[in-house]
Amino acid sequence: MIKRREFTNLLGLGLLVSSLPVAIAACQSDPSSSTSSADGEFVAIGTVAALDTEGVLANSDLQGNNLAVIRNPNAPESVIAVSAVCTHSGCTVPWNAEQGVFACPCHGGRFNPDGTVADGPPPRPLTTFEAKIDGDQVLVRI
Ligand code: FES
Repeated sequence: MIKRREFTNLLGLGLLVSSLPVAIAACQSDPSSSTSSADGEFVAIGTVAALDTEGVLANSDLQGNNLAVIRNPNAPESVIAVSAVCTHSGCTVPWNAEQGVFACPCHGGRFNPDGTVADGPPPRPLTTFEAKIDGDQVLVRI
């Protein structure tokens, strides 16, 4: 007969063993990867006309994501979508069209249009998202 204490220990061990595959999978994700999953759906973030008028389409809560989309300076027919969350301490990073960078207002971090770190304390690039123009809409896969 199993006593209560033994049962509790066995239950704890069972929970630990059953959670190991999840923990191992979580640890195997590439920490240098900064591209979002390609499993999501394309969602409209705004119109091409608004992008061209404003120079950026920003939405701080597009299905829970804080995103910014700009035209690719090296290929203006395409667009670049990034998470506008600074990888240093999480401030929202607005697009600065004059300087051609995402400029963090908190500690001076600066990111290139493709999200890579240009300057300052951010330790990693901005997360990028697949994006495209479809008709008059700008779509981001999230
Ligand atoms: S939060 Fe952006 S540079 Fe510190």
